[in-house]
Amino acid sequence: MDWDEFEFDTLAVRAGIARTNEGEHSEAIFPTSSFVFDSAAHAAARFSGEEPGNIYSRFTNPTVRTFEQRLAALEGGERCVATSSGMAAILTTCMGLLRAGDHIVSSRAVFGTTVVLFNNFMAKFGVETTFVDLTDLAGWEAAIQPNTRLLFLETPSNPLTQLVDVEKLAIIAHNKGCLLVVDNCLCTPALQQPLKQGADIVIHSATKYLDGQGRAVGGAVVGREKEMNDVYAFLRSAGPTMSPFNAWIFLKGLETLSLRMHAHSANALQLAQWLEQQPQVSRVNYPGLSSHPQHELAKRQQTGFGGVLSFEVKGGQEAAWKVIDGTRICSITANLGDTKTTITHPATTTHGRLTDEQKSEAGITDGLLRVAVGLESIADIQRDLARGFD
Ligand SMILES: Cc1ncc(COP(=O)(O)O)c(C=O)c1O
Repeated sequence: MDWDEFEFDTLAVRAGIARTNEGEHSEAIFPTSSFVFDSAAHAAARFSGEEPGNIYSRFTNPTVRTFEQRLAALEGGERCVATSSGMAAILTTCMGLLRAGDHIVSSRAVFGTTVVLFNNFMAKFGVETTFVDLTDLAGWEAAIQPNTRLLFLETPSNPLTQLVDVEKLAIIAHNKGCLLVVDNCLCTPALQQPLKQGADIVIHSATKYLDGQGRAVGGAVVGREKEMNDVYAFLRSAGPTMSPFNAWIFLKGLETLSLRMHAHSANALQLAQWLEQQPQVSRVNYPGLSSHPQHELAKRQQTGFGGVLSFEVKGGQEAAWKVIDGTRICSITANLGDTKTTITHPATTTHGRLTDEQKSEAGITDGLLRVAVGLESIADIQRDLARGFD
């Protein structure tokens, strides 16, 4: 099937489907570790790559393949490699594409564990990372060295929702011979397709909005055949593989991705506008607000503003904790990308290991709260937060 001619919502429901002889309508799950061959010659042909097909589920599984094909179609990439988690997707990309002596330039405003992976583990194998301000294009350019191979970022960032102009940064990256890697976890392809804006590789924590219902951990890397061959080669040898059960859950998640992302965005915008009116709140960070310094870029680069916002309450940590403890519906958890609204105090949880100086550099103040807005009735979420404000 040539999927190129179909629109996003059709691809989300149907791309990658390979029906078995049973004629099942919903995609089949293949919980099998290995596959059998008709003959010794058949086995040899599969192992040599002469004949494509299933061998062993560490690197070939039909359910995982359906998920990979569907996500590749949604991101507009040639190929997707599914992984066991979002962190495995980042690790697999680095291990597949980098060698000792290479250098990464990364946005400072990336998921904390990504910083740990770069600083504590990639560095052990001779790959150094320089961290820069996400929004500062000149800073990105200045940080690129002759041995820089990857530029890595999330846009919008979490929890401050800062953006970078992907098209402009891709030009800078390519002029210097670097690959631009975008973690597209917050927007998903339903709201933003970085490959179409010039990025070379997209990373996903499928754990977040691709599933969207908090059920499974998984990840994915999407890009051109050329780079994905190297990424896949590492996955095949090292085994950070997605299970067929999880692939099936993510397939079901993708079918409603577009509906959910637009509903998350509508709810988040309503909540952000309401928060701006509250006297206890000194600042709201959400790209959909006209007060957001990069609102125009967000309108150009994204087709929706996403479900994540943050805001600062007057009164520092004590006030912020009171707001959290006043809630009855919002889940107090650091995860995001769920139908259920979650609330977090970044300074004492996700960013708790940073020094005061690093927190202040990253804009993580004591009064900052992050809400990943779910799909509940927004009036109930407002009442939930208002209890804490009162
Ligand atoms: C933006 C982003 N990237 C990557 C990850 C890592 O994903 P996982 O938890 O699936 O390993 C996360 C997890 O929270 C994330 O928020």
